[in-house]
Amino acid sequence: MAGKIISKFFDIDGGNTIDVYERHGGYQSIRRVLKKMAPGQVTDEVLKSNLRGLGGAGFPAGRKWSFIPKDSPKPKFLVVNADESEPGTFKDRYIMDRYTHGLFEGIMIASYAIGANKAFIYIRGEYVRQAENLVEQIKCAYDRGYLGKRIFGTNFNLDLVVHRGAGAYICGEETALLESLEGKKGWPRMKPPFPAIEGAFKCPTIVNNVETIAYVPTILQEGGEWFSELGSERNGGLKLYGVSGHVKKPGVYELPMGTSLREIIYEHAGGLQDGRKLKAVVPGGSSAPVLTADEIDVKMDYDSLAKIGSMLGSAGVIVMDDTTDIVRALYVVTRFYHHESCGQCTPCREGTGWAERILKRILDGNGRSVDIDNLLNIAGNIMGNTICPLGDAAALPLKSYLTKFRADFEAAVSDRNGVGKVADEPVSLLN
Ligand SMILES: Cc1cc2nc3c(=O)[nH]c(=O)nc-3n(C[C@H](O)[C@H](O)[C@H](O)COP(=O)(O)O)c2cc1C
Repeated sequence: MAGKIISKFFDIDGGNTIDVYERHGGYQSIRRVLKKMAPGQVTDEVLKSNLRGLGGAGFPAGRKWSFIPKDSPKPKFLVVNADESEPGTFKDRYIMDRYTHGLFEGIMIASYAIGANKAFIYIRGEYVRQAENLVEQIKCAYDRGYLGKRIFGTNFNLDLVVHRGAGAYICGEETALLESLEGKKGWPRMKPPFPAIEGAFKCPTIVNNVETIAYVPTILQEGGEWFSELGSERNGGLKLYGVSGHVKKPGVYELPMGTSLREIIYEHAGGLQDGRKLKAVVPGGSSAPVLTADEIDVKMDYDSLAKIGSMLGSAGVIVMDDTTDIVRALYVVTRFYHHESCGQCTPCREGTGWAERILKRILDGNGRSVDIDNLLNIAGNIMGNTICPLGDAAALPLKSYLTKFRADFEAAVSDRNGVGKVADEPVSLLN
């Protein structure tokens, strides 16, 4: 592989300081960009790189930047999404802990490209240490003149602000995040207008994930084409895969986009404990449809996973071996989405609650065979019927676990205390 670009900083001698970053070539890209490139050229280079948004949806970063209206007299903002609350996801935390100035350099370049003089990092409330580190390192960057006015002697000014969330998963959704940033309740907005036209404080705003922005300095240094060729078709570059669950070496692995899931699990994460068999894998954070052991030869990129009915999402790979109670696993995931539903849309607010209660009843030994199809119906009624995709995030695991592991659910409703035998009577969803 051509080089571990972000992860080479993970264990670097001297730690995560501005001096160490500069000693290893840091803040060179931004110097060159400010002196030699027009904002549009920066966006073109990112377009060429095929860098896709790494927060989950995979929207091409350069294309998003190009939507900022150039003739708008309003201020423009860059908002970095560091909410990272999807279960199974911890890659952005690594970047903030170990590549802080790489992230800042990416913020500077992206802000220059879109014409922003103010950028925010919206960080999840639970990341206390990370937030403190960001504030401390931002101060170092200001002290050196890398943030603030007339950066590197040019006309470019940039202020960078850390904004802490208060522990709500929904605030990772970009429009809920913007509401929260404005001091309001974190409820998603209807789109359009998209944030690039009307985002923070009704001004044109680009929201990008931490990892997306962290790759920008490398792209500007090495060139968009170089980055693009590291990955697979239409899915440029490298990617941080966070592996957790039943593997010998859980952690964050930086690999080319499109590395196979099998290679990630068995070569990089050390495989399963001896004697254990693979049962299921969630490839992209808890909302991604689950895969069976037969499906792990898939390339881990946006297009390949979509083709088999799943998604790359946040690339948080959750590995489950044959000791896993799949009914309990789905219950835990569903409980999370119920707890985190913001309550704005009825299908999500009510549906996630019904699903949680039915799954709990099954776990308690009071399941009925009709429950399985009821759960599938609930999932179907949530999908696509909500303002934001949190509803889909809850429905997709329901659909995929129940379909791919139906036998486990059937065994659960018939085995547990035998209550499942009265299954076909009409039952209320709520008891
Ligand atoms: C419920 C929900 C939670 C989300 N959480 C995050 C998150 O924690 N971090 C993130 O970058 N994107 C998250 N997203 C995606 C964002 O809405 C948005 O697409 C992303 O920040 C855009 O950045 P990107 O284009 O660089 O991926 C979430 C989306 C939804 C629907």
